[in-house]
Amino acid sequence: MIIDVGIVIGSLRQGSVSRKVAAALTKHTPEPLKLSCVEIGGLESYNEDLEQREPASWVALRASVARRDALLFVTPEYNRSLPGILKNALDVGSRPAGKNVWSSKPACVVSLSGGALGGFGAQHHLRQILAGLNVAVMPGPEVYLSKASALFDDAGELISVDTAIFLSAFMTKFRDWARHHYANAPIGLSLA
Ligand code: FNR
Repeated sequence: MIIDVGIVIGSLRQGSVSRKVAAALTKHTPEPLKLSCVEIGGLESYNEDLEQREPASWVALRASVARRDALLFVTPEYNRSLPGILKNALDVGSRPAGKNVWSSKPACVVSLSGGALGGFGAQHHLRQILAGLNVAVMPGPEVYLSKASALFDDAGELISVDTAIFLSAFMTKFRDWARHHYANAPIGLSLA
């Protein structure tokens, strides 16, 4: 049985290090996890007034998240927090009230930055939000990738063997976490 994991990436730019990290994680993912992106670019900014005519971009995001068995968040740090596009996607998926599509999904978080702190601020703001959305976030191992662009060559391939081994072990832990929560998921019960 495949476990369908949606990767939610907090950067839209071409050449994004977060996208390279997501590709490296995909390469080092064990079966039965199957990873593919949940696209959050082009989402209209959340405005409750628009719920009456539910914009097509919101419908697509909500459907894409709802059909996933689990979630992997990969995010850079912006100004000591998560990027606004990621927060907007979380807000869109959380509404209308009672129809939070993030709820009950097993998830894990990877953060990164160009500096030394590995996106610590972004990751912990994200974890706080996910707790509010009733997402089952794996507590550890925690992954903070510092000086992240230096981990890749010009072709976007991971050059650090140690990092490859670490990411592989992380995804194996996440497979076990996702399996456990998937097996124990409350059917039809949503707290948020
Ligand atoms: C950053 N960056 C950054 N880095 C950091 O360590 N702490 C921070 O607070 C910020 N703030 C910040 C704000 C904005 C608006 C930008 C554009 C960048 C650097 C950033 O984390 C780094 O460039 C990442 O590589 C960006 O991710 P992608 O786009 O490469 O995936």
